[in-house]
Amino acid sequence: MNHSFEYDLAFSRNIGWFTEDEQQILKTKRIAIAGMGGVGGFHLITLVRLGITKFHLSDFDQFACENTNRQAGANVSTYGKDKLDTMVEMAKQINPEIEVKLFPEGINDENTEEFLEDVDCYVDSLDFFAIKPRITVFKLCAEKHIPATTAAPIGFGTAYLNFLPGKMTFEEYFGLNGFTENEQYLKFFLGLTPAALQKSYLVDPSKLDLVNKKGPSTIVGCQLATGVTAAQVTKIFLNRGDVLNVPWGLHFDAYKNQFKKTWRPLGHKNPIQQLAFSIGKKKLLSPQQSPIVGGIVIQTLAEKVLDYARWSPSGDNTQCWRFELINESSFIIHANDTRDHVVYDLDGHSSHLAHGILLETINIAASKFGLKCNVSHDLSNDRLLKFTVELVEDETITESVLLPFVKVRAVQRRAMGTQVLNNAERKELEDCLPPGLSVQWFESFNDKLSLAKLNFTNAKTRLTMKEAYAVHKEIIEWKAQFSETKIPEQALGVDWPTARLMQWMFKSWERISFANKFLAGTILPRIQLDFIPSLKSSAHFAVRADNKIETTEEYIEAGKAIQRFWLTTTKLGFGFQPEQTPVIFSRYLDNDISFTEDSKVIENAKKGKKMFEALINGPENTVFLGRIGRSAPPKSRSIRRPLSELIIEKT
Ligand SMILES: Cc1cc2nc3c(=O)[nH]c(=O)nc-3n(C[C@H](O)[C@H](O)[C@H](O)COP(=O)(O)O)c2cc1C
Repeated sequence: MNHSFEYDLAFSRNIGWFTEDEQQILKTKRIAIAGMGGVGGFHLITLVRLGITKFHLSDFDQFACENTNRQAGANVSTYGKDKLDTMVEMAKQINPEIEVKLFPEGINDENTEEFLEDVDCYVDSLDFFAIKPRITVFKLCAEKHIPATTAAPIGFGTAYLNFLPGKMTFEEYFGLNGFTENEQYLKFFLGLTPAALQKSYLVDPSKLDLVNKKGPSTIVGCQLATGVTAAQVTKIFLNRGDVLNVPWGLHFDAYKNQFKKTWRPLGHKNPIQQLAFSIGKKKLLSPQQSPIVGGIVIQTLAEKVLDYARWSPSGDNTQCWRFELINESSFIIHANDTRDHVVYDLDGHSSHLAHGILLETINIAASKFGLKCNVSHDLSNDRLLKFTVELVEDETITESVLLPFVKVRAVQRRAMGTQVLNNAERKELEDCLPPGLSVQWFESFNDKLSLAKLNFTNAKTRLTMKEAYAVHKEIIEWKAQFSETKIPEQALGVDWPTARLMQWMFKSWERISFANKFLAGTILPRIQLDFIPSLKSSAHFAVRADNKIETTEEYIEAGKAIQRFWLTTTKLGFGFQPEQTPVIFSRYLDNDISFTEDSKVIENAKKGKKMFEALINGPENTVFLGRIGRSAPPKSRSIRRPLSELIIEKT
């Protein structure tokens, strides 16, 4: 065992993959790395461990808490310290003999020439948004015949490109000159990831915010990017095998189990890239994409709590609330109902459940900051409730176990895994309800079949009722995966042809009547939306009250419990879909609430009510009906209005 540093011994385990001579070649090479943050820090460490000994390094920034998730040098003891000094220290702990030339002012027009002097390869690790220095450094690399490589951490993968001397250049590939800063970001992004493997699992697209220079990034992507970079550098230095130059690109995604080789001849002039650019401009550069439009940067405790609260679910994603900030730690919730235009909310109780869900979400969010919510309410106007929330420090409050699930909880309307609940899961769900509420489970095949039949019948009521048509035609965002204000088509759970049939039908009531009469129009959607998913579940459940609930306050309290129940199912790895309309129509029929003028629809609703009553013990006490099943989070969901839109001026 040798405990003092010796180059040949330190890198002897590389030999086998390199020859000893090749290791000596690596020892003589000089690499320039711009940026010691997300990928740059790992690049330095990895290249040092590869046996590279000469570096030109730049960074002007200091480590901070928000770098913790992905940056090699970010830890509690380095917060506030220069990234450059910290990383050099770490690198010298690995190889004390490395030679470094430092550029603590970062790279700019004045020093890029010096930064690239005598350099054998440039490894790009500039911040994604540092476009100007990136253009300069790549231009100079091309002029000086320095190979350059860039591997971007993208989600759980990496997309990588090489720019070798004499081949297509950075500018020829990306074509950034003459575009606005935002357009340059977009073009750079599209050129980096032509395969876009990450697209399908970006759960919160609002976090990819080019306009406000923000994007999500994981350690997985950074570490993969750094391994790939070191491999490219090795091959370039040792002339070992093909190194692909743009317009070829490579993208490996560990999450998708996919590897794609892309080819974009003509680079940015390629018609596919041009099309992606025009679509991307609409999707990513329009101001409403930004979570801080209207100048709201989330700062105060009240805003931090409300940024969780806005993820509360509401019937048809109506988000029946607006927030008025009073000061840094208190706010008013103006909670409206939707009875004037939503047939599922004629007594306001669907909204009241959602208001309870919102209040519970606020409670859970406040626990993150050790805060208790003091809530006073004014329910005098039944259509516009007012809750004043004061957040107060309370040392007895600890972070709720449900907090991590507030933003990921979503409706799963598709078929789910059917494996039954085990006793522990069933008990955890039953125990999360307060006294006075209990669950009736429907788990056997016959039970699920009965629920499938009930939902199939009930869906006929919904889809043949003119009053519901008025709602449906407004609440679906066709061809969308995500929607801020509605339910996106892909979250409905129908396949593409059925979605097109529905879109065609929903253009006018006449079309629906025609399709219902001559084309059995509702059958296909009802099979896909109701019958099959009902069977493809682990269980259906009815949450019932010991004593029938009737008042606004009782519905709000029940809503709080439902949110705990829903979040607990998410915590346990289940998907969840409410099946509230049978409950609602039965209540309307019991309470003589007129919901349609069509007698045939009323007959069908009565048929559904009978089926509902035959299944449930104490149907009139049922607060919430739904189904759960083993499921990954849905790929499509209703995202929410940005906080800036939900916060209103003083009334
Ligand atoms: C009180 C209430 C009732 C709901 N009823 C139904 C329902 O009957 N069927 C359904 O598919 N979704 C139902 N939803 C789900 C909402 O449509 C969904 O929560 C909303 O669109 C937001 O989407 P997210 O939960 O995926 O974030 C209900 C939600 C709430 C809060």
